[in-house]
Amino acid sequence: MNEMCTTAKYRQLSKDERHFLFSLIENGGPEPKEYKELTAIVNNLEDNELDCFREVIRRSLNENTLIGHGFIKPFGYPGDFSLIHNIYREYVNPDSRYSNWDRFFQDQAGAHAVRNRKDYFLERCKEIDRKDGGEKRVLILGSGPATDVNEYFQRNTDSRIHFDLVDFDQNAIDFAKSQNEQFKASINYFKSNVLRFKPYQWYDLIWSAGLFDYFKDKHFIYMVNKYYKYMTEGGEFIIGNFSNSNPTRRLMEVLSDWYLNHRSKYDLVRMAIEAEAREELVEVEREELGVNLFLRIKAA
Ligand SMILES: C[S@@+](CC[C@H](N)C(=O)[O-])C[C@H]1O[C@@H](n2cnc3c(N)ncnc32)[C@H](O)[C@@H]1O
Repeated sequence: MNEMCTTAKYRQLSKDERHFLFSLIENGGPEPKEYKELTAIVNNLEDNELDCFREVIRRSLNENTLIGHGFIKPFGYPGDFSLIHNIYREYVNPDSRYSNWDRFFQDQAGAHAVRNRKDYFLERCKEIDRKDGGEKRVLILGSGPATDVNEYFQRNTDSRIHFDLVDFDQNAIDFAKSQNEQFKASINYFKSNVLRFKPYQWYDLIWSAGLFDYFKDKHFIYMVNKYYKYMTEGGEFIIGNFSNSNPTRRLMEVLSDWYLNHRSKYDLVRMAIEAEAREELVEVEREELGVNLFLRIKAA
């Protein structure tokens, strides 16, 4: 055990807890029957105990596991395009030294909610394609891997949607471009910070998921106010945000050092109104688990 964990500064993990954690590492992560015990240990950790806990599971917090990828942040921030893509494809490392950790990660409500929000997005795109008229326009803020766009085009080969994708990470754009090569005629990429990006036209849908949860309220409100003017008649601005009832919250924070601004339905409505959206044009939906909320603002 590292010195750090034995100082009086930290609560000692009990012998049983340490034994349990070491056995998880030996087995490449928890078996399903151990999920509850691990979750209980994690949920009970105080912030000043995190270093000690992470020291104990350090051998699993590396690039070979999804939790380790979150923790190490090879692209500089948690929730990068590669991690999100791996959540979508339900990736599990086949190496038995790590696979149980990945199965555990993919089983969390938070990971299910990320997949559910993609399905929610695909439904919204379908609704747009059913509308009358010619080409449709969708703007995605913080587009990441664009696996959602890829899935939409794979399933809807006659789509009339043109996507504008904005992301400030060149690695994300390169990845999105390469996996969407066959759909390049229908996609424009913009490497830009969404706080500064200037839309050059109007959109049937402005979509953002996995981005506004990183913003403080002040930036959230600024962003709504900035973009909601760029909707066509009948258009919508939809923002995904993790709900403060996310049961995976502490696991994300402890295992992957991944902190988000979780929000309630009322927080989202309040901020939309503060951003000068009309109350009657604002509603909040949720995916089936209620872990991801969607703020929907209709064009005035
Ligand atoms: C968690 S991922 C979500 C990706 C995608 N929306 C999805 O749900 O599949 C967040 C993405 O937003 C990008 N991002 C974060 N802050 C940004 C900013 N201020 N401007 C542009 N992109 C940003 C990151 O580079 C990352 O690719």
